[in-house]
Amino acid sequence: MEAINVLPLLLISLFSTFLVAQSTDIITANQTLKDGDTIVSRGENFELGFFSPGGSRNRYLGIWYKKVSLQTVVWVANRDSPLHDLSGALKLSVNGSLSLFNGKNSLLWSSTSLKKIRVRNPIVQILDSGNLVVRNSGDDQDYIWQSLDYPGDMFLPEMKYGIDFVTGLNRFLTSWRSPDDPSIGNYTNKMDPNGVPQFFLKRNSVDVFRAGPWNGLRFTGMPHLKPNPIYRYEFVFTEKEVYYTYKLANPSVITRMQLNPNGALQRYTWVDSLQSWNFYLSAQMDSCDQYKLCGSYGSCNINESPACRCLKGFVAKFPEAYSAGDWSEGCVRRVKLECHRGEEDFLKISKLKLPDTRASWYDKSMDLNECKRVCLNNCSCSAYSHFDVRDGGSGCILWFGDLIDIREYNENGQDLYVRLASSEIETLQRGIDRVSSKKEEEDLEFPFLDLDLIAEATNGFSDENKLGQGGFGPVYKGTLACGQEIAVKRLSRTSKQGIEEFKNEIKLIAKLQHRNLVKILGSCVEDDERMLIYEYQPNKSLDSFIFDKERRRELDWPKRAEIIKGTARGLMYLHEDSRLRIIHRDLKASNVLLDSEMNPKISDFGLARTLGGDETEANTTKVVGTYGYMSPEYQIDGYFSLKSDVFSFGVLVLEIVSGRRNRGFCNQEHKLNLLGHAWRLYTEGKACELIDEAFKESCTDVSEVLRVIHIGLLCVQQDPKDRPNMSVVVLMLSSEMLLLDPKEPGFFNERNLLFSDTMSINLEIHTNNLQTVSVIEPR
Ligand SMILES: *[C@@H]1O[C@H](CO)[C@@H](O)[C@H](O)[C@H]1NC(C)=O
Ligand SMILES: *[C@@H]1O[C@H](CO)[C@@H](O)[C@H](O)[C@H]1NC(C)=O
Ligand SMILES: *[C@@H]1O[C@H](CO)[C@@H](O)[C@H](O)[C@H]1NC(C)=O
Ligand SMILES: *[C@@H]1O[C@H](CO)[C@@H](O)[C@H](O)[C@H]1NC(C)=O
Ligand SMILES: *[C@@H]1O[C@H](CO)[C@@H](O)[C@H](O)[C@H]1NC(C)=O
Ligand SMILES: *[C@@H]1O[C@H](CO)[C@@H](O)[C@H](O)[C@H]1NC(C)=O
Ligand SMILES: *[C@@H]1O[C@H](CO)[C@@H](O)[C@H](O)[C@H]1NC(C)=O
Repeated sequence: MEAINVLPLLLISLFSTFLVAQSTDIITANQTLKDGDTIVSRGENFELGFFSPGGSRNRYLGIWYKKVSLQTVVWVANRDSPLHDLSGALKLSVNGSLSLFNGKNSLLWSSTSLKKIRVRNPIVQILDSGNLVVRNSGDDQDYIWQSLDYPGDMFLPEMKYGIDFVTGLNRFLTSWRSPDDPSIGNYTNKMDPNGVPQFFLKRNSVDVFRAGPWNGLRFTGMPHLKPNPIYRYEFVFTEKEVYYTYKLANPSVITRMQLNPNGALQRYTWVDSLQSWNFYLSAQMDSCDQYKLCGSYGSCNINESPACRCLKGFVAKFPEAYSAGDWSEGCVRRVKLECHRGEEDFLKISKLKLPDTRASWYDKSMDLNECKRVCLNNCSCSAYSHFDVRDGGSGCILWFGDLIDIREYNENGQDLYVRLASSEIETLQRGIDRVSSKKEEEDLEFPFLDLDLIAEATNGFSDENKLGQGGFGPVYKGTLACGQEIAVKRLSRTSKQGIEEFKNEIKLIAKLQHRNLVKILGSCVEDDERMLIYEYQPNKSLDSFIFDKERRRELDWPKRAEIIKGTARGLMYLHEDSRLRIIHRDLKASNVLLDSEMNPKISDFGLARTLGGDETEANTTKVVGTYGYMSPEYQIDGYFSLKSDVFSFGVLVLEIVSGRRNRGFCNQEHKLNLLGHAWRLYTEGKACELIDEAFKESCTDVSEVLRVIHIGLLCVQQDPKDRPNMSVVVLMLSSEMLLLDPKEPGFFNERNLLFSDTMSINLEIHTNNLQTVSVIEPR
């Protein structure tokens, strides 16, 4: 038996060019590939050999990218049978089967072929697609065996991700246990052929996420999957097979879709200039993607609060539980169906992710009228829709039984026709008319309340009713005559804006709706008075917890992590999703309010905009903000951008983790502020010392907190260009994407502040800087 590339490991790095010249892409029968040997595909895209993942010492036979500097393994043979030494040997026998042996000649892994091909002179070859194939040496079409049929956690280009009905082969992804351990982890993403085929992401055997059926353009549960310059995707569904696949649009681009150990199904692309993998797309988008979150006949809308509602014509099975956020029991019909002809009809609901199709039936050619008729004639049929949405729609899907796992989208949703009692549809249609005319009225007349009314609700703006002093004026608690509790913000009279402009601006801002923004209920503009009326948040603001000796214990790590993520989503919405593209300019712990379930709600958003008039995106002559949260370029040069909010967010993150304020921070060992302290600990590898003792116990996974600290430091970097934008921050918080190393933070040494004259003057003026609006002239 002969071995290939028998150079000792040490020499490989010294003589790599020599090796490349010598390298081959095939192994022939009776040859052995030993640990230290590799074969490399012709274009040098992929390499097959033995490796150790992450920090592990175990050895595995696998395939990795040859051109990617970070070891990125795309396929592993002996996932569950590691080698514990360097004795591994891969052999191809004359009958075409590949076998991996250890030093004691025990079989660790072997290939099994479902194909009936006569084997003559077999060879193994590693291809530039990353596919490892066994074939007859004269035939490069028909493979005896190929690794793409037995994927691990990676969905590579040209793989047929799905089922071959002829051989029964189902190709699916299984996560690794951890980056150090390729053995079978807890997550699978697999095509389920029942009803209309769908991919299901499962944790062990529990459904976690459903991409939904293919509708001709995309999976109904992945509205963000769109034609793009990187890869071309295709879904094939015939009697013989059903699969999803993609090809690279540009063969030099390196991209992969991976099922991570934590269950995130994500696509990355390799960026050579950065030498890192860039996150590209995630199958799951947000918590509405959690399978069946809202229960049967419930629908999830991430922009609503709460996110779950019953479909029209349905009511919560247990109304109290449902409104308290326990949606598991779902919804039931308000009017029961008797299945009498003529007494039932269908209500069209638009912009949906179609319900689970495991209990469905389909016909690819039936038209929608026929579809409706068939559904109406079968009492257990609960809904129907088009099978394919292209060209105005074609085909028919019928659902039987409960409708499960529905959500609403802003774009790329689908129409679903839901069976309801005719009487119910009439009521609903009247209701819809009423609602829509009411909506129009609302648009015309956004509630502008009487000053008298507000004064009454707040006991004449009494001191007892004062909740605090916000960035733009005092805030009062009020109770309207109807019993509703409100928070009233009385704005300082700094605006030069006219009343009409102010009203228009407020109307626009009131349209911003997101679960992590405080909801504006109305406003009051009279004479010199300008007030905003908000939903009252019973749990006050974040600073009253994290900086309080006792109450800080009420916030454990999972809660804090949720608050950080929610705040990031709210800020991302302001920056990127809202039509207005708002820069907050005064994000801080006291502007993050907490609702009854401790969900974070950003307040004071948009105020900088209403009060600042035309200063929307560039230089300002007045700096509005709070010391400790302001970025250097803003505080010193008056230059603000989305990235100055990112800076404030980073400060907030470090405060939430440490339970210490950035401003006024003191440490006996140095004179740094919190940012400087965090940076110092981080560079010394002692970042875990930053963690607040109050929640350390509740934190089962310290690495998660360290990651959040790392993200916080990325946000407070000196140069705005280095700071990530909020969509990247949200991704970093919710995925395991690789993080760059942070550079030195801005203002990490508080004495820097004093370099600027104006700063020192203002420091004297504002003795209580922690909750002050600072309006100062820059140098
Ligand atoms: C491989 O080994 C077998 C058994 O020793 C022998 O019959 C066969 O000819 C060999 N094949 C090649 C390609 O060397
Ligand atoms: C092929 O040969 C190997 C080793 O000789 C043997 O273990 C295996 O069972 C054979 N496979 C088939 C399909 O005959
Ligand atoms: C997989 O799930 C089991 C059961 O929930 C759990 O005990 C185990 O720790 C999980 N393994 C990993 C690697 O997450
Ligand atoms: C209704 O459809 C279900 C599911 O396809 C089927 O089992 C049942 O026989 C149908 N009932 C009638 C009355 O056609
Ligand atoms: C938050 O407010 C709700 C409703 O007032 C209350 O029941 C809950 O105890 C508060 N949570 C904390 C942590 O104070
Ligand atoms: C802000 O002012 C600085 C200094 O005057 C100038 O360099 C910069 O281009 C200005 N930025 C914008 C967006 O106007
Ligand atoms: C955020 O940053 C990423 C990476 O730099 C970039 O690709 C993306 O376009 C940015 N998003 C916005 C909305 O600016």
